[in-house]
Amino acid sequence: MMTMKKSQRIIEEGVDARRRNYRMRRAGIAGLLLAGSATAALAADPAAGQQIFKAQCSICHSVAPGVNSIGPTLFGVVGRLAGSVAGFQYTAEHKKLGVIWDAATLDKYLTNPAAMVPDTTMIYAGLKDDAERANLIAYLQTLH
Ligand code: HEC
Repeated sequence: MMTMKKSQRIIEEGVDARRRNYRMRRAGIAGLLLAGSATAALAADPAAGQQIFKAQCSICHSVAPGVNSIGPTLFGVVGRLAGSVAGFQYTAEHKKLGVIWDAATLDKYLTNPAAMVPDTTMIYAGLKDDAERANLIAYLQTLH
């Protein structure tokens, strides 16, 4: 459910965007500015990803080397073989994954962990928003 404040903000942002559009057209550089903002939308934001991590992952995952809790540590997860943290008890299917965690494999896993590992003990429905997932993965890439 959307709060009044939030919907108000969305309406205001919409109005602002229309104003900006109008000004751009008048200046005749709309194409140039649009190209710029499309690039900005594609660039993932690790700081935003860290906020998502704190809210949705940190309850089960540490980012410190060697520290396992409900889930294995995610220190150095990018570039790591799935199911390879020493001392962590993975499920049988997770151990059989045989993938190296990179942006593509993490993207698939984090969209819906149970689709990739049916017997998973990671009780997490998945992060469905593409941009949020890109930000989260950009944050995971900093954990070295
Ligand atoms: C309720 C606890 C829980 C939450 C919340 C959770 N995880 Fe997990 N995670 C686990 C467990 C348990 C495993 C091991 C799964 C298995 O063995 O099947 C795991 C495994 C993983 C793996 C594979 C690691 C490896 O060494 O192969 C990654 C990557 C991962 N989680 C990322 C995340 C991210 C990112 C989030 C937040 C969006 C998250 N997890 C949220 C519990 C959790």
